[in-house]
Parts: sequence; C-alpha cells; structure tokens
Amino acid sequence: MKSFRDKRRDNRPPAKGGAGEARPHEGRATAQPDTRPREREARADDRSEPKPAPRVLARRDGALPTEHLPVILEVAPNADYALLDSGAGQKLEQYGPYRIVRPEGQAIWQKALPAKDWERADAIFTGDTDEEGIGRWRFPRTPLGETWPMKHDGIDYLGRFTSFRHVGVFPEQASHWDHMAGLIAAAKRPVKVLNLFGYTGLASLVAARAGAEVTHVDASKKAIGWARENQEMAGLGSKPIRWIVDDAVKFAEREERRGSRYDIILFDPPAYGRGPRGEVWQLFEDLPDLTDLCRSILTPKPLAVVLTAYSIRASFFAIHALMRDTFAGMGGKVESGELIIREKSAGRALSTSLFSRWVA
Ligand SMILES: C[S@@+](CC[C@H](N)C(=O)[O-])C[C@H]1O[C@@H](n2cnc3c(N)ncnc32)[C@H](O)[C@@H]1O
Repeated sequence: MKSFRDKRRDNRPPAKGGAGEARPHEGRATAQPDTRPREREARADDRSEPKPAPRVLARRDGALPTEHLPVILEVAPNADYALLDSGAGQKLEQYGPYRIVRPEGQAIWQKALPAKDWERADAIFTGDTDEEGIGRWRFPRTPLGETWPMKHDGIDYLGRFTSFRHVGVFPEQASHWDHMAGLIAAAKRPVKVLNLFGYTGLASLVAARAGAEVTHVDASKKAIGWARENQEMAGLGSKPIRWIVDDAVKFAEREERRGSRYDIILFDPPAYGRGPRGEVWQLFEDLPDLTDLCRSILTPKPLAVVLTAYSIRASFFAIHALMRDTFAGMGGKVESGELIIREKSAGRALSTSLFSRWVA
C-alpha cells in the first residue's frame, strides 16, 4: 500500500500556490503546467527526505458530534471593508481608502450601481498580462504603491496589490476570526492556536490579540514576510506568534511525532498548492489525511477545528461528513455551510467558500 507521502510525490499534474509564490486560492484558476526550474530543484531535494510511516485512515469509533447545517456566516459592509456592488462578472469593493474592481465569476446578475460609481475605482485588476508584480493592476485615477494601510476591527495591517488578483486579505474570513476570538476569551486559560495555510496572518493576529499563543504555517516565504510586517504594523510585535515556512502536512506530521498539541486549529487550504520543497497539495486527495492529523494534534481539552475550502466541486455536505466522521467520539458539534459577503448596493449574497467547523 502506498504511504500518504508516496501519494503526495506521485507524478500528478503540477499545481501552483505555495513554494514562495504566495498564490492563495490558486484553485480558482485552471491548474497550468508549472515548469519553473526553482521548483523542479526543490522537488528533487525532497526525494532525499526520509519517508514517514504510512497514515492508515479508518472510520473513527464513537458517537458522532451533533450537527448543525446549513449555517451561513455573513460579513456585512463595515467601516474597514465593503462589497459595494457586483454584477456582469465583476465586483466593486471598498478596502479602507480604495475602491477596487476585480473579476467575479459568480456575479451573473446585473450591476445595481450606475456606471459612474464603478468609474470612480482606484484600482482595477485586468489580468491582461502574465507578468509578476503589480502589472496586472491598473490605477485609473492616480498611480498607487504596492501596499496601503488597512484595519480589521482595530488591527492595523497592509492591503496589497498582489499578482493573481488578491489583496492580502480575505474579508469573508472575519466570521471565523470573531468566533475564534470569542472561544479564546471564554476559555479563560492559555490557548494554543495553529493556523495552517495562514497567508498574510490576519487570523493569527486576531488570535494573538485575543490572548492565544499562535503557530502560523505557510509554504510561501513571501506570505510569511508579509504576515510579519502585518504583526509589526498591528503593534502586536510582542505577542507570541511563531512564523513557520513549511508544508502544512509535513508540519502537522512533525507536531504529531513531537507531541506538540493545539487547542484550536484553523486550516484554509487551496484546491491545489505546493509546499516550500515542491510537496504537492491536492485538496481532494490530501484533505482526509490532514483532517485526521488535525484531530491527532489536539490537546486533551480542545476548543475547535475550523476548515474552509474554496474553488472545489463539492458541497459543504462533503466536508461536513468528513469533519463529523473525523471527530467521532469527541463530543461537541459540527456546523457547516458557506461564508458569504453581503453586498451593500442591492443586498445580494456573494458566496466565497464552504466551511465546516468542529466546536467542543
Ligand atoms: C487560501 S490561502 C489562505 C488564506 C488565509 N487563511 C487568510 O484568511 O488570509 C492559501 C495559502 O496556502 C498556502 N499554501 C499552499 N500550499 C501549501 C502547502 N502545501 N503548505 C502550506 N501552505 C500552503 C499559500 O501560500 C497561501 O498562502
């Protein structure tokens, strides 16, 4: 039988994300063959690593957690961020001081705001060139720098015009951040949080501000650099956050072997991604093992495990069943559904992702 690690090394279609490139949510786009030499070298190095023992998955014994679904977690327009309007395959958002237009495949309806409101945009993602950097952004009013000051609930951080249309934050995640901060505060004891696939670190900052000791893992050195900048920007430099460039699965496996344990685990994997040494992450193949690993690195009195999934051909029922089966025998409840952003102009809901969370 092939080990989990062998499966991850198989000659599957190359995928993007991770490996120093900070390409979150790359699964939104069709995976392209990736021939970058640096990544090929990294994969060659990876072959010399010792193989861990195979992970054998079996259905867990014990009563299933209670269930609650569908749960729709909504982010409403607020002073820091708003989805102003959407339609005709685009969305118009306010990120702090800037109005930003980006493609949005789900906006199959018509725009509610008049053209003059869209024409006031400060930045438009055009996607008309493959160049790295901010070449895909157009600034119709005045040229803008790569970053700008943003806030989330009093936490300062940097918005940024990244290649691949992202702006350094996923505002829909705020529903999970608030929930997690509530759990940390209510615990009234030291809480350890693991943030896998953590990107620019907003969840880690929220957890640290709420009093947790945080371990943040991402495959991208660049994203970790941005996350560290955000920590300084937020004035949370003295808070205990470990920033780790690693493959999420490898890191979790090491924590399991070392006996390191966490009270809250967040994992927000892309559909496809790569670890820093070229490890392939494919959500449909790798998620069951990683979910099981997450269970095995919980403290004896854990608080929650929160999974978000994007750009996959699946319903939240699929990740709900996976989470409920994985957390059998642990009590608590599993709630699952979608993260949505409520539009300011006409109140339509833009769904961004599926989620499932086990809460003790
Ligand atoms: C969906 S984004 C995460 C967004 C983040 N949770 C947030 O709210 O800002 C995906 C992240 O996964 C990282 N990634 C991709 N493959 C990875 C892997 N194998 N191990 C660790 N991180 C990976 C990417 O670098 C990217 O930062």
